[in-house]
Amino acid sequence: MKTDRLRCSLLHLLPLAFILTTGCETPPAVPAAPPFTPVADVKELMEMVIDPAADVVWESVGAIITAEGTEEIFPKNDGEWATVRNSALVLAESGNLLMLGERAKGEGPWMIMSQALVESARIAFEAAEAKDADAIFMVGGDIYSACETCHVLYWYDEDGAIPSTGSATPPTTTSLILPEKVRASTQ
Ligand code: HEC
Repeated sequence: MKTDRLRCSLLHLLPLAFILTTGCETPPAVPAAPPFTPVADVKELMEMVIDPAADVVWESVGAIITAEGTEEIFPKNDGEWATVRNSALVLAESGNLLMLGERAKGEGPWMIMSQALVESARIAFEAAEAKDADAIFMVGGDIYSACETCHVLYWYDEDGAIPSTGSATPPTTTSLILPEKVRASTQ
Protein backbone atom coordinates (compact mmCIF):
# COMPACT_ATOMS: atom_id res chain seq x y z
CA MET A 1 0.00 0.00 0.00
CA LYS A 2 2.72 2.37 0.99
CA THR A 3 4.85 1.59 -2.06
CA ASP A 4 1.79 1.93 -4.26
CA ARG A 5 1.15 5.39 -2.96
CA LEU A 6 4.81 6.26 -3.40
CA ARG A 7 4.80 5.01 -6.99
CA CYS A 8 1.64 6.93 -7.60
CA SER A 9 3.06 10.18 -6.33
CA LEU A 10 6.29 9.61 -8.25
CA LEU A 11 4.24 9.12 -11.41
CA HIS A 12 2.50 12.38 -10.70
CA LEU A 13 5.83 14.04 -10.37
CA LEU A 14 7.04 12.80 -13.74
CA PRO A 15 5.25 15.39 -15.89
CA LEU A 16 6.49 18.07 -13.52
CA ALA A 17 10.04 16.82 -13.95
CA PHE A 18 9.50 16.87 -17.70
CA ILE A 19 8.24 20.43 -17.62
CA LEU A 20 11.10 21.48 -15.38
CA THR A 21 13.77 20.02 -17.65
CA THR A 22 12.23 21.10 -20.94
CA GLY A 23 11.34 24.45 -19.41
CA CYS A 24 15.04 25.22 -19.32
CA GLU A 25 15.31 24.92 -23.09
CA THR A 26 12.08 26.46 -24.39
CA PRO A 27 11.24 30.06 -23.54
CA PRO A 28 7.71 30.68 -22.19
CA ALA A 29 5.09 31.00 -24.95
CA VAL A 30 3.54 34.15 -23.42
CA PRO A 31 4.63 37.14 -25.56
CA ALA A 32 6.44 39.81 -23.57
CA ALA A 33 4.75 43.22 -23.38
CA PRO A 34 6.54 45.80 -25.56
CA PRO A 35 8.98 47.91 -23.52
CA PHE A 36 7.84 51.18 -25.09
CA THR A 37 4.92 53.32 -23.85
CA PRO A 38 3.39 55.55 -26.54
CA VAL A 39 2.43 58.90 -25.00
CA ALA A 40 0.99 60.82 -27.95
CA ASP A 41 -1.89 59.64 -30.14
CA VAL A 42 -1.71 60.19 -33.91
CA LYS A 43 -3.44 63.59 -33.72
CA GLU A 44 -1.03 64.88 -31.06
CA LEU A 45 1.98 63.50 -32.91
CA MET A 46 0.82 65.35 -36.03
CA GLU A 47 0.05 68.64 -34.32
CA MET A 48 2.95 68.83 -31.86
CA VAL A 49 5.82 66.93 -33.47
CA ILE A 50 5.38 66.24 -37.18
CA ASP A 51 3.76 69.46 -38.41
CA PRO A 52 6.19 71.86 -36.66
CA ALA A 53 9.20 69.82 -37.85
CA ALA A 54 7.88 69.72 -41.43
CA ASP A 55 7.36 73.50 -41.41
CA VAL A 56 10.98 74.06 -40.40
CA VAL A 57 12.19 71.89 -43.29
CA TRP A 58 9.79 73.35 -45.89
CA GLU A 59 10.34 76.97 -44.89
CA SER A 60 14.13 76.66 -44.81
CA VAL A 61 14.51 76.74 -48.59
CA GLY A 62 12.76 78.46 -51.50
CA ALA A 63 12.53 81.81 -53.17
CA ILE A 64 10.49 84.97 -52.73
CA ILE A 65 9.82 86.63 -56.08
CA THR A 66 8.82 90.31 -56.04
CA ALA A 67 8.92 93.20 -58.52
CA GLU A 68 12.34 94.08 -57.11
CA GLY A 69 13.74 90.65 -57.86
CA THR A 70 14.15 87.18 -56.42
CA GLU A 71 15.28 86.53 -52.89
CA GLU A 72 16.68 83.05 -52.41
CA ILE A 73 15.90 81.45 -49.07
CA PHE A 74 18.36 78.97 -47.58
CA PRO A 75 20.06 78.41 -44.21
CA LYS A 76 22.77 81.03 -43.79
CA ASN A 77 25.01 79.62 -41.06
CA ASP A 78 25.87 76.45 -39.13
CA GLY A 79 23.18 77.14 -36.55
CA GLU A 80 20.43 77.47 -39.17
CA TRP A 81 21.62 74.33 -40.96
CA ALA A 82 21.59 72.45 -37.65
CA THR A 83 17.99 73.55 -37.03
CA VAL A 84 16.91 72.15 -40.41
CA ARG A 85 18.92 68.96 -39.90
CA ASN A 86 17.39 68.38 -36.45
CA SER A 87 13.85 68.86 -37.70
CA ALA A 88 14.46 66.50 -40.63
CA LEU A 89 15.62 63.86 -38.16
CA VAL A 90 12.55 64.41 -35.96
CA LEU A 91 10.41 63.95 -39.07
CA ALA A 92 12.19 60.77 -40.15
CA GLU A 93 11.93 59.13 -36.73
CA SER A 94 8.30 60.26 -36.44
CA GLY A 95 7.60 58.09 -39.46
CA ASN A 96 8.80 55.16 -37.35
CA LEU A 97 6.61 56.29 -34.44
CA LEU A 98 3.56 56.18 -36.73
CA MET A 99 4.19 52.46 -37.28
CA LEU A 100 4.36 51.59 -33.56
CA GLY A 101 1.61 49.89 -31.59
CA GLU A 102 -1.93 51.29 -31.65
CA ARG A 103 -0.95 54.15 -33.96
CA ALA A 104 -0.55 51.87 -36.97
CA LYS A 105 -3.76 51.41 -38.93
CA GLY A 106 -3.26 48.02 -40.54
CA GLU A 107 -0.37 46.66 -42.53
CA GLY A 108 -1.24 48.32 -45.87
CA PRO A 109 -0.95 51.93 -47.12
CA TRP A 110 -0.45 53.28 -43.59
CA MET A 111 2.89 51.48 -43.40
CA ILE A 112 3.87 52.51 -46.94
CA MET A 113 3.12 56.19 -46.21
CA SER A 114 4.96 56.05 -42.88
CA GLN A 115 7.96 54.48 -44.60
CA ALA A 116 7.77 57.14 -47.34
CA LEU A 117 7.96 59.77 -44.59
CA VAL A 118 10.97 58.03 -42.99
CA GLU A 119 12.75 57.76 -46.33
CA SER A 120 12.05 61.26 -47.68
CA ALA A 121 12.92 62.91 -44.35
CA ARG A 122 16.08 60.80 -44.14
CA ILE A 123 17.15 62.25 -47.50
CA ALA A 124 16.37 65.76 -46.19
CA PHE A 125 18.48 65.01 -43.11
CA GLU A 126 21.43 63.97 -45.26
CA ALA A 127 20.95 67.01 -47.52
CA ALA A 128 21.05 69.27 -44.46
CA GLU A 129 24.24 67.58 -43.28
CA ALA A 130 25.71 68.24 -46.75
CA LYS A 131 24.28 71.81 -46.66
CA ASP A 132 22.58 71.17 -50.01
CA ALA A 133 19.60 73.56 -50.22
CA ASP A 134 18.54 72.36 -53.70
CA ALA A 135 18.31 68.76 -52.48
CA ILE A 136 16.17 69.84 -49.52
CA PHE A 137 13.87 71.74 -51.86
CA MET A 138 13.51 68.71 -54.15
CA VAL A 139 12.80 66.20 -51.39
CA GLY A 140 10.38 68.63 -49.72
CA GLY A 141 7.87 67.64 -52.41
CA ASP A 142 8.29 63.96 -51.56
CA ILE A 143 7.73 64.68 -47.88
CA TYR A 144 4.57 66.60 -48.75
CA SER A 145 3.31 63.71 -50.88
CA ALA A 146 3.80 61.27 -48.00
CA CYS A 147 1.74 63.55 -45.71
CA GLU A 148 -1.04 64.21 -48.16
CA THR A 149 -1.38 60.67 -49.50
CA CYS A 150 -1.90 59.41 -45.97
CA HIS A 151 -4.34 62.22 -45.16
CA VAL A 152 -6.44 61.47 -48.22
CA LEU A 153 -6.66 57.80 -47.25
CA TYR A 154 -7.03 58.02 -43.46
CA TRP A 155 -8.10 61.50 -42.44
CA TYR A 156 -9.96 63.64 -44.99
CA ASP A 157 -12.13 60.71 -46.03
CA GLU A 158 -13.50 60.27 -42.51
CA ASP A 159 -14.03 64.01 -42.06
CA GLY A 160 -15.54 64.36 -45.51
CA ALA A 161 -13.23 67.32 -46.16
CA ILE A 162 -12.27 65.70 -49.45
CA PRO A 163 -14.92 63.48 -51.07
CA SER A 164 -13.94 59.83 -51.22
CA THR A 165 -14.43 59.88 -54.99
CA GLY A 166 -13.12 62.30 -57.59
CA SER A 167 -10.33 64.38 -56.12
CA ALA A 168 -9.41 61.76 -53.49
CA THR A 169 -6.75 60.23 -55.70
CA PRO A 170 -3.34 59.81 -54.14
CA PRO A 171 -0.85 62.21 -55.74
CA THR A 172 1.52 60.56 -58.17
CA THR A 173 4.28 63.17 -58.07
CA THR A 174 6.75 61.27 -55.96
CA SER A 175 9.00 58.42 -56.87
CA LEU A 176 9.06 57.25 -53.27
CA ILE A 177 5.38 56.39 -53.13
CA LEU A 178 4.11 53.63 -55.33
CA PRO A 179 0.55 54.60 -56.29
CA GLU A 180 -0.27 51.21 -57.86
CA LYS A 181 0.76 49.46 -54.67
CA VAL A 182 -1.32 51.87 -52.59
CA ARG A 183 -4.39 51.52 -54.81
CA ALA A 184 -4.07 47.74 -54.98
CA SER A 185 -4.00 47.44 -51.19
CA THR A 186 -6.99 49.74 -50.66
CA GLN A 187 -9.33 47.97 -53.12
C1 HEC B 1 0.78 57.42 -42.04
C2 HEC B 1 -0.22 58.42 -42.15
C3 HEC B 1 0.10 59.89 -42.01
C4 HEC B 1 1.23 60.54 -42.43
C5 HEC B 1 2.43 59.99 -43.16
C6 HEC B 1 1.04 61.92 -42.06
N1 HEC B 1 -0.15 62.10 -41.44
FE1 HEC B 1 -0.86 63.87 -40.66
N2 HEC B 1 -2.54 62.91 -40.05
C7 HEC B 1 -2.81 61.55 -40.21
C8 HEC B 1 -4.10 61.25 -39.60
C9 HEC B 1 -4.77 59.90 -39.54
C10 HEC B 1 -4.60 62.48 -39.08
C11 HEC B 1 -5.93 62.70 -38.34
C12 HEC B 1 -5.70 62.50 -36.86
C13 HEC B 1 -6.97 62.64 -36.05
O1 HEC B 1 -7.67 63.66 -36.20
O2 HEC B 1 -7.23 61.74 -35.25
C14 HEC B 1 -3.59 63.48 -39.38
C15 HEC B 1 -3.71 64.83 -39.01
C16 HEC B 1 -2.77 65.80 -39.26
C17 HEC B 1 -2.89 67.18 -38.83
C18 HEC B 1 -4.04 67.78 -38.04
C19 HEC B 1 -3.76 67.58 -36.57
C20 HEC B 1 -4.85 68.22 -35.71
O3 HEC B 1 -4.53 69.07 -34.89
O4 HEC B 1 -6.02 67.85 -35.90
C21 HEC B 1 -1.77 67.84 -39.30
C22 HEC B 1 -1.43 69.31 -39.10
C23 HEC B 1 -0.95 66.86 -39.99
N3 HEC B 1 -1.58 65.63 -39.95
C24 HEC B 1 0.27 67.14 -40.59
C25 HEC B 1 1.04 66.19 -41.24
C26 HEC B 1 2.28 66.49 -41.92
C27 HEC B 1 2.88 67.86 -42.07
C28 HEC B 1 2.75 65.29 -42.41
C29 HEC B 1 3.99 65.03 -43.21
C30 HEC B 1 5.22 65.67 -42.84
C31 HEC B 1 1.81 64.25 -42.02
N4 HEC B 1 0.80 64.84 -41.32
C32 HEC B 1 1.97 62.92 -42.33
C33 HEC B 1 -2.02 60.63 -40.83
C34 HEC B 1 -0.77 60.87 -41.39
